[in-house]
Amino acid sequence: MQTPHAIGCISQKGGAWKSTIARALGTTYTVAGWETKIIDLDIKQATATNWGQRRLRAGITPDVPVQLYGNVAAAMSRAGDADLYIFDGPANATEETVRIAKACQLLILPTGLTLDDLEPQISLANSLVDSHGVPVERIVFALCKASTRSAPVDAARVYLGKTRFAVLDGSIRNQDCYASAMNEGRSITETPFKGPRAEAIQVIQSAVDHFERLIAA
Ligand SMILES: Nc1ncnc2c1ncn2[C@@H]1O[C@H](COP(=O)(O)OP(=O)(O)O)[C@@H](O)[C@H]1O
Ligand SMILES: [Mg+2]
Repeated sequence: MQTPHAIGCISQKGGAWKSTIARALGTTYTVAGWETKIIDLDIKQATATNWGQRRLRAGITPDVPVQLYGNVAAAMSRAGDADLYIFDGPANATEETVRIAKACQLLILPTGLTLDDLEPQISLANSLVDSHGVPVERIVFALCKASTRSAPVDAARVYLGKTRFAVLDGSIRNQDCYASAMNEGRSITETPFKGPRAEAIQVIQSAVDHFERLIAA
């Protein structure tokens, strides 16, 4: 039994858009032909699990398996059924977040653009590296909760540029079309609206590129 590759979406605060990115990665890798499974570790909200059921009921293809687990060890003990695990982390950082970090080759930390959102995420990233020995290159930030204005995105990118962490290309805007895509069982990269779809794809493709480099290293 081979340990699957793994990507984790984690955050210090709740509502950072972890499940949003996990679902976009899940659909993207499945379409690309990877046997992908989203591991939903948010047992309280089960956001990805419920979304997977909506997707199944709506008959949307490809089918993206989602499974709810109480912890990383339980998920890993049944590994072997996928090439790639996408860990959708618990609502906020717990000791399980550290276990996700240790199991993954790439960690995506979604963040809003305010200091209120950036600071706790940077502090989580620092603690993973400094207190838990997670290699710094495994951690990337994703700029989320953007509006139509580019200045806040640019400012957040500059702020993160002063840390040792990489930032994915592009940003994800708060948009009704993404919300309705997810309501319908699609991911943000599957919205029928061309412009927003291209923007979401840019961010997710940047994560795919990082992951390729990390697994090749
Ligand atoms: N790009 C977006 N535009 C609009 N709403 C979004 C977007 N991304 C996420 N949401 C909504 O924001 C809320 C939190 O997102 P979610 O991905 O569940 O965060 P987390 O998993 O970090 O708690 C959810 O209601 C989700 O549907
Ligand atoms: Mg979630």
